[in-house]
Amino acid sequence: MNFDRLARHYDWMEACLAGDRLQRARTAWLGELGGRRRILSIGEGHGKFAAACRARFPEAELTCVEASPAMLARAQRRLGPGAEQVNWHCGDILAWEGGGEFDAIVTCFFLDCFPPETLAAVVAALARRAAPDAVWLLVDFALPPRGPARWRALAVHALMYAFFRRVTGLPARRLTPPDDWLRRNGFQPAGRSELDWGLVRSDVWRRAGG
Ligand SMILES: C[S@@+](CC[C@H](N)C(=O)[O-])C[C@H]1O[C@@H](n2cnc3c(N)ncnc32)[C@H](O)[C@@H]1O
Repeated sequence: MNFDRLARHYDWMEACLAGDRLQRARTAWLGELGGRRRILSIGEGHGKFAAACRARFPEAELTCVEASPAMLARAQRRLGPGAEQVNWHCGDILAWEGGGEFDAIVTCFFLDCFPPETLAAVVAALARRAAPDAVWLLVDFALPPRGPARWRALAVHALMYAFFRRVTGLPARRLTPPDDWLRRNGFQPAGRSELDWGLVRSDVWRRAGG
């Protein structure tokens, strides 16, 4: 998967296709990060979560891991001089060994990139970075259970996955809900908000004691 080709188009595409809905999803549970000292955002992309997080919690230590150099450069530009206060790592999260333990894990439109056969390993790798009382902010596309909202989402997903597979080499063909894998790694759902007829979902999960 390589998002370099898409990096310079990502902002306008998001604005045209989704308005502010994706950013509302990214920030729906931002308040849950209050008091969290070390925050890890994986697949940070173009930096919209990082910018909101830095603005709200300038005292927290934010680390962003992003595999695409072009996306990471975009994120750094978005943050301007504030980028110097963020720890950046350009590379594959599965190969990253630094960083230590984090009080909060953030994945925005990241886990929905993976097919079932790799999702388990990705969630487990991220969970290993999480403190015993960590929170996990999880923002992804979703499939409503039934009715017109589901039909609409199925059509949007089909277009979206076809596009991202072609342009970025995305490995997933369809959405695999990560919920079971979070549970297996000790996280429990603590809050959910849905946007855009359930097409986008913003969750907060907590580990026992979190
Ligand atoms: C769909 S984009 C989401 C970007 C951003 N988080 C957002 O909210 O729009 C997924 C991002 O994850 C990055 N990514 C994919 N696989 C990765 C990996 N194994 N390690 C780190 N980043 C990865 C991609 O380069 C891309 O920027």
